[in-house]
Amino acid sequence: MPTPLVRAALPATVSLESGEGQLPRLIVANALARAEIYLHGAHVTAWQPQGHEPVLWMSRKSAWDATKPIRGGVPICFPWFGPHATDKTAPGHGFARLLDWTLVEARDDERGATHLTFELTPPAPPPAAWPHTVAATYHVTVGSSLVLALDVRNPGTDASSFEEALHTYFAVRDVRAIEISGLAGTDYLDKVGGTSQRNQGAEPIRFTAETDRVYLNTQAACTIHDPGTRRRIVVRKSRSNATVVWNPWVDKARAMPDFGDDEWPEMVCVETGNVNLHAVRLAPGASHTMTATIDVVAVP
Ligand code: BG6
Repeated sequence: MPTPLVRAALPATVSLESGEGQLPRLIVANALARAEIYLHGAHVTAWQPQGHEPVLWMSRKSAWDATKPIRGGVPICFPWFGPHATDKTAPGHGFARLLDWTLVEARDDERGATHLTFELTPPAPPPAAWPHTVAATYHVTVGSSLVLALDVRNPGTDASSFEEALHTYFAVRDVRAIEISGLAGTDYLDKVGGTSQRNQGAEPIRFTAETDRVYLNTQAACTIHDPGTRRRIVVRKSRSNATVVWNPWVDKARAMPDFGDDEWPEMVCVETGNVNLHAVRLAPGASHTMTATIDVVAVP
């Protein structure tokens, strides 16, 4: 399916096809891993390194509609996170996950990983909810690691500020049995039932109820320990000062039309971001790149 959203020559490891909802989708299959990426939202919906089960979780109820976000994988939240601060009509988590991105480069490197570069088609004119010009580029490297780098440049003449998150949904066997380490002693905003500030203390994160937390002032790697799949998922990051951890649990899952009622035990989100008091301010001409690097380790 030809599309003007693909402006790069494709190496043999990358193919373009009509995906769910007939949305254009890239399939990457190299010696190291397999991945799927939709041009709608530059949304990575699958990554499976050789020798492992799929790492990203996708809802079986995802909408697959060009006017709606995809549920699962890696939504890009930008240029705000969560509900817009003042405009109730503006889309949650910003417009980047709702817009088309254009593939401008696709190449394999000498180690067998595939590099894809996407450019955001910015809304024109800029929406009242975020009245700035922007140039956003997203680099996805599909290999034995998955590397995601969101580069935002301010081409305008006024300073602008934004929030961002790579809202990664990870597949786990049962969220009630996992632990997440890496955030011990870190302050967080607990968004369940109103916002309050707490501290993680010495314990790893465990899940016994709805969990919606913004960990503040942390650059640490996080590790998901999943005894059910006998693996660890490690999320390393750079130029990100916040980590969001989310599982909707029973009631919130039921309330979301694009999330199966019984799917919540299968997933956890560990999101690399700059949100809330870590919003990024960009001077005219300046740019900022945030990177998440994901690895999987089998546990014998
Ligand atoms: C998380 C937020 O990152 O995303 C939650 O912290 C939110 O508050 C969740 O419910 C899902 O958001 P959405 O817009 O994709 O339903």
